[in-house]
Amino acid sequence: MKGENVMLAVKDLEVYYGSIHAIKKISFEVREGEIVTLIGANGAGKTTTLHAISGLVKARSGEINFCGNNLRSMEAHKIIRLGLAQVPEGRRIFASMTVQENLEMGAYIRRDREQIQQDYERVFERLPRLKERRRQIAGTLSGGEQQMLAIGRALMSNPKMLLLDEPSMGLSPLLVSEIFKIIRDVNESGMTVLLVEQNAKQALEIADRAYVLETGTISMSGDASELATDEKVRAAYLGGAQ
Ligand SMILES: Nc1ncnc2c1ncn2[C@@H]1O[C@H](COP(=O)(O)OP(=O)(O)OP(=O)(O)O)[C@@H](O)[C@H]1O
Ligand SMILES: [Mg+2]
Repeated sequence: MKGENVMLAVKDLEVYYGSIHAIKKISFEVREGEIVTLIGANGAGKTTTLHAISGLVKARSGEINFCGNNLRSMEAHKIIRLGLAQVPEGRRIFASMTVQENLEMGAYIRRDREQIQQDYERVFERLPRLKERRRQIAGTLSGGEQQMLAIGRALMSNPKMLLLDEPSMGLSPLLVSEIFKIIRDVNESGMTVLLVEQNAKQALEIADRAYVLETGTISMSGDASELATDEKVRAAYLGGAQ
């Protein structure tokens, strides 16, 4: 069960944007059933790391292995089909489409129509606010509801692993708690999660393990509960003594 099989292994990953060395040989792994969080400040390289995994930016060197597949130099649409779904930073829902249509877009790679119907119901059970609003234009949803929709849309691809890029961004503390509870529930139903966050406190509360990303390098790693009490982590990411 949890923690036995390595699902995603990133080794010595390097990414450049022109002459900017954004990711400097980082290595980390996510095991089946885990929530792993990658925490770091603005510009640390969190989004770049996720984009390298999902094929949206090219890695200069290193290895990315997902369920036995080498993702380096694989195209993004093929990576999605392997079961890796990304919930992008800033949600990026289709604003002029309805909630239902956004969820349909999430299932576009699938052909198993009956199973898709069941998955709509599962997504709606998990995210009841979306069910009430299934015919609403997505751009008129609140920020929290849009985040829920972005998660629901990713789940509709029936992935093996969910990559989440700062789901707490721009949300009130109460909504952040709600979104994180959803992430935990999704994980408890068997989904493996890689969660990228600036909100270190709440990310460390729900994660099993964590890596700290600082200007393109991993400076610390360990059990989330241990990092949450680490003096350096507390000082840099948790607002000092708490
Ligand atoms: N397309 C790009 N072209 C040039 N530089 C980029 C590009 N995208 C990101 N960068 C640079 O790479 C570094 C890492 O950026 P990235 O977006 O990965 O950080 P982040 O940790 O996700 O930050 P945030 O928390 O603000 O989202 C930054 O210095 C950024 O300016
Ligand atoms: Mg980012």
